[in-house]
Amino acid sequence: MCGIVGYIGNQEAYPILIKGLHRLEYRGYDSAGIALINPSGDLNIYKTKGRVSDLEEFCDSKDISATIGIAHTRWATHGEPNNANAHPHYSETENLALIHNGIIENYAVLKEQLMQKGYHFLSNTDTEVLIQLIEYIQTLNHVDVCTALQLALGQVIGAYAIAVMEKGNPDQIIVARKSSPLVLGIGENEFFIASDASPIIEYTNKVIYLEDEEIAIVKRHEQPRIVTIGNVEKTREIIQLELSLSQLEKGGFPHFMLKEIFEQPHTLRDCMRGRVDVTCNNIVLSGILDHRERFLQAKRIIILACGTSWHAGLIGEYLIEEICRIPVEVEYSSEFRYRHPVIYPDDIIIAISQSGETADTLAAIELAKKEGAFVYGICNVVGSSIPRNTHSGSYTHVGPELGVASTKAFTAQLCVLTMMALCIAREKKVLPQSRILELLHELNLIPDKIEQILNANDSIQKLSNIFTYAHNFIYLGRGYNYPVALEGALKLKEISYIHAEGYPAAEMKHGPIALIDNEMPVVVIATDNDMYEKVISNIQEIKARNGRVIAIVSETDTVVKSIADYVIEVPATEDCFEPLLTTIPLQLLSYHIAVNKRRDVDMPRNLAKSVTVE
Ligand code: M6R
Repeated sequence: MCGIVGYIGNQEAYPILIKGLHRLEYRGYDSAGIALINPSGDLNIYKTKGRVSDLEEFCDSKDISATIGIAHTRWATHGEPNNANAHPHYSETENLALIHNGIIENYAVLKEQLMQKGYHFLSNTDTEVLIQLIEYIQTLNHVDVCTALQLALGQVIGAYAIAVMEKGNPDQIIVARKSSPLVLGIGENEFFIASDASPIIEYTNKVIYLEDEEIAIVKRHEQPRIVTIGNVEKTREIIQLELSLSQLEKGGFPHFMLKEIFEQPHTLRDCMRGRVDVTCNNIVLSGILDHRERFLQAKRIIILACGTSWHAGLIGEYLIEEICRIPVEVEYSSEFRYRHPVIYPDDIIIAISQSGETADTLAAIELAKKEGAFVYGICNVVGSSIPRNTHSGSYTHVGPELGVASTKAFTAQLCVLTMMALCIAREKKVLPQSRILELLHELNLIPDKIEQILNANDSIQKLSNIFTYAHNFIYLGRGYNYPVALEGALKLKEISYIHAEGYPAAEMKHGPIALIDNEMPVVVIATDNDMYEKVISNIQEIKARNGRVIAIVSETDTVVKSIADYVIEVPATEDCFEPLLTTIPLQLLSYHIAVNKRRDVDMPRNLAKSVTVE
């Protein structure tokens, strides 16, 4: 999704802004642009379709001298990716420049009104409407740009994180946010603005997160002033971030995605640190224990999420129902928020989101809160909107995930859901303590078992060569491994652009079996668990139709090994922890196929890391 960077201080702004845009590339984008106010007060905009490197090339011969500027990477919503639709946008007189992340929903009506007043539009974007509106209000009411911005934002419906600069005013950037993320970095006599902390962290770890409908007036040599759209003064706490620069770099791996796959033993240990204590036979999840009564009284849990996080939610459903005996429903946030759901005050909502900024999940949370439900967030990005808008929750603690395809965040979401299930089961006394301890000890061994699977990377890479040119894939699993099949298919689609579908293995005979022939690779998760015999029958059905089976099997397996065309082994574990292991080879398989196809693995086409529009 769109990325915003801004700088005001004593240094040259251009290199800081360009570096910042590169740091935000992981979010996904299709054009980039920059606005600078030079020492004479001229407001220059340079923008182009394509990569940040294209923008740099474009700026080669331009006037880039400035100590103030704003920059943007655009992920197209209104209007195709082209030079005109790229941000920043000028106002009619070219006195103002604006960058925007979000969507102005009532832009068409506002545009029509502005056109009737003689305003001209150079782009198809909703953003250009906003900057024209600000200028119109400024001229009409003879007010300063901040007041005009407040009045304009009072008229718009939608989501925004914006930054505005004014020609002839090289000492001020004004920013505002509603439902789209915005962070302010506080340096020594310099300030940074960004969609997330990644462009800021190499300069300062002190940040302020703006709340919805807040505006910050960022002036040279002054502490930022924060007011609401309604002009109420606010004070916001300065937060110290623990993020480190090395976490934002590839550390010798060719792609962030591969680095993040290989980080999983370590990230899961981090996720369990201070929570799972096998020496004391204890599990502590303060987000649950602080609200123990709510969890003890909960009649139902509803899990809300999108994409990969929704797959984690499905596994969470299996875990919580089996271990805690509480009924669980899992919903796509985007469906839940619009389908008039029945929500009871004693429901517990678990919202899962890596980024903590997914617009649909945020809106679904607001709906549930209005109905009185208790909302628990499972998020990765510290300080993001979901943790700030939920009653309680747990961070996954995996560090920044920069590959657009989620890997380490997914396994950590599973780990948190497992710890939640164990913690609730203990408090509810629905599982014998001895069984809880058995599970706890096994969970603690999972990182070592993942390390073992990662050792098979070379052979999975070789296997990927055989299937690089397949046009379709089917992924099958049962029980806990059914959501893993969905996730395996999603990973392959996202980064290789090969069509792939995941199904519960038994559903295959109800339709998808028609697709099976000798050209159809079928990835089957066939580990030795409660569903083993059933899955073997499903494999037989595929082989009877000449399908090519790649099976994920237990090390001790003999039967599937004798039927499948290719196998990848995983160590044995409890059924409910299998997804933590069976996911890993599927991540590697997708990665290598995508690399073979020369895809942009970390920034797949059309995708955004943080989906801040609905
Ligand atoms: O940040 P979130 O977990 O809320 O994001 C949800 C989805 O957009 C995300 O999982 C998406 O499906 C990923 N690209 C998956 O790899």
